[in-house]
Amino acid sequence: MIQFLRTSLLTAFASALLAAGAIAQETIKVGEFASLTGKEAAFGQSSHKGTLLAVEDLNAAGGVLGRKIELLTEDNQSKQGESATIVKKLIARDKVVAILGEVASSRSLEAAPVCQAFKVPMISPSSTNPAVTEKGNYIFRVCFIDPFQGVVMAKFAKNTLKLKKLGLLTSVSSAYSVGLAKYFKERFIADGGEVVIEQKFSEGDKDFKAQLTAIKAAGVDGIFAPGYYTEAALICQQARGLGMNLPIFGGDGWEAPQLIELGGSAVEGTYYSTHYTPENSAPAVQDFVKKFRARFDGETPDAMAALGYDSMMVLADSIKRAGSAERPKIRAALAATKDYQGVTGNTTMDAERNATKAAVVITVKDGKFKFVESVNP
Ligand code: PHE
Repeated sequence: MIQFLRTSLLTAFASALLAAGAIAQETIKVGEFASLTGKEAAFGQSSHKGTLLAVEDLNAAGGVLGRKIELLTEDNQSKQGESATIVKKLIARDKVVAILGEVASSRSLEAAPVCQAFKVPMISPSSTNPAVTEKGNYIFRVCFIDPFQGVVMAKFAKNTLKLKKLGLLTSVSSAYSVGLAKYFKERFIADGGEVVIEQKFSEGDKDFKAQLTAIKAAGVDGIFAPGYYTEAALICQQARGLGMNLPIFGGDGWEAPQLIELGGSAVEGTYYSTHYTPENSAPAVQDFVKKFRARFDGETPDAMAALGYDSMMVLADSIKRAGSAERPKIRAALAATKDYQGVTGNTTMDAERNATKAAVVITVKDGKFKFVESVNP
């Protein structure tokens, strides 16, 4: 009897402590893989800051299902072949319940088969190549995909820039670049435009003068160059150096402060499409911008930061709705995500586990990014 009393008293005492939060509940471990260093460090660092801010917000509000979120982040150094390895580590060693990442489609494509094989839900914040979520029913994203982005820029080229004869300059080693060029071209031609020349380069190339000279000789009135910011800045500089003062434009891969830092006056008047603008006056966006600036030294969040934030928030929302942090239950709740209101708009997962969201077009004016227009799906 005394023994019984003592145990039940102890149990009551323990649950009281638990309720008061005095005994730490087990955390919910979430893995993140990102390009924190290397060639596309701007992508990984920005996305990571957004994700981290979301984790801090969630934990400050008591966590999820009464448990704190523990974010475990691994760096793939922007290198090919690293992502599968570090994601395996996050799954096998750290036993994360879900994985967030990556920005670049090629690296999401490396990790997705691993997450699918281990049945660990993966959410890419900002990879736009359609093949990413085609890797299986555990793979999700919270952004639009390139068949849409390609149409947005094809229409912009034709209707706003009034271009008729284009040159394409794509990175053959980037699934993103190849895909976006294809979707863009299909639409531009369907709408009566002409693609008179297509030139290619590989990731890490620094000299584009041969390709640009060929494009110049072909007599184009504009260049679509869907690649990443490092190459885009050099392409613009070298084109201007060759006396090509025509419109050059790209997709979301152009977005990073480095585009302007590296490109200088050569990127003035260029355009690209992306997922979000800090100029959006919607309260959700302005609250986020304010919070982000306060947390990160006055830095203004870009699209990767906003999508990084939303990816973590959509995951947390799914865990709450699932009432469980078990992987298959999280997966089912993620698939059922409907009208989740985030910083980058509403997230509803379609049958292919993709989100449908508006795109924005940005230009560079007086050394600053400037919102041009918003395009609804
Ligand atoms: N969408 C690009 C890709 O899939 C990555 C990216 C997203 C880059 C957002 C910048 C901003 O590779």
